[in-house]
Amino acid sequence: MDVVASDAASMNWVGLDRSDLDIVDARAVDAAVAAIRPDVLINCAAYTAVDRAEQEADLAHAINAVGPGNLAQAAAAHGAAFLHISTDYVFDGEQVEPYRPEDPTGPLGAYGASKLAGEEAVLAAGGRAWVVRVAWLYDAWGPNFLHTMIRLAEAGRALRVVDDQHGTPTSALSFARALRQWAKEPERWSPGIWHFGHRGVTTWFGFAQAIFEGMGMEVDASPCSTADYPTPARRPRHSHLDPEPWFAAGGGVPETWQEALAECLEQVRTERGSAAV
Ligand SMILES: NC(=O)c1ccc[n+]([C@@H]2O[C@H](COP(=O)([O-])OP(=O)(O)OC[C@H]3O[C@@H](n4cnc5c(N)ncnc54)[C@H](OP(=O)(O)O)[C@@H]3O)[C@@H](O)[C@H]2O)c1
Repeated sequence: MDVVASDAASMNWVGLDRSDLDIVDARAVDAAVAAIRPDVLINCAAYTAVDRAEQEADLAHAINAVGPGNLAQAAAAHGAAFLHISTDYVFDGEQVEPYRPEDPTGPLGAYGASKLAGEEAVLAAGGRAWVVRVAWLYDAWGPNFLHTMIRLAEAGRALRVVDDQHGTPTSALSFARALRQWAKEPERWSPGIWHFGHRGVTTWFGFAQAIFEGMGMEVDASPCSTADYPTPARRPRHSHLDPEPWFAAGGGVPETWQEALAECLEQVRTERGSAAV
């Protein structure tokens, strides 16, 4: 959970991790929010083990639904604007067109169901609440898909990467900038559900190819299908979240996913350069 006390000139961020606060504990959540008195509260905490959730549905529900409900209620009680992060996994992935916030949901597994229940709990809490769905997040530090691809490529492995799931790789850095903008001026967006992301769609294989190309790596990579790698939880086949309404409200233009990736790969190179010194 991140809480923000802000004034017109500056923002004062307070970050709490799991050892500071268990969001499932309603009393502890209320006490923390009462003590900090944030203007704005952002929930980044979640249960994100998509496959394990099939065996741990109760735990996933507690962290992804009960916890966000606790935070939303505490925010409402103490006058904070509350933003909760959700996911494309609330959809069944059968819609080829970009998903808009109002499109019908239909999670394929326990993780998606728990996140959808979290959205409902947040919006039912009665305060000023925003749910922002994102998909396919990555950053320069990992662990995430981008890091895994670079690590496996550097190990000289021949790679097979899924080429029949479609979505939009989304830079966590770009998303963090969007959240900062929201924290400064939440009233630009009406309370409710929003989608954040970039322009364009690819597959995991397409994303991997763009990473290798951007890093100047020669990699023996070939496409495969989801059926080649069965997992306990089913994944949506189409996950493109339409970011246009978010940017229309915020006053900007979404980057393409390739532009956002180029910035991240520059960061990866910079990090490596400074690590080598
Ligand atoms: N990663 C993606 O591709 C992706 C895609 C779509 C949406 N999202 C959403 O984006 C958000 C952030 O995802 P992420 O990938 O950053 O997740 P993450 O790396 O798994 O981080 C989740 C964090 O929540 C903490 N946490 C778990 N249970 C908690 C509890 N009861 N109380 C307090 N903190 C708790 C975890 O602490 P521990 O490390 O100690 O367990 C961890 O620091 C989530 O809402 C997720 O659903 C992510």
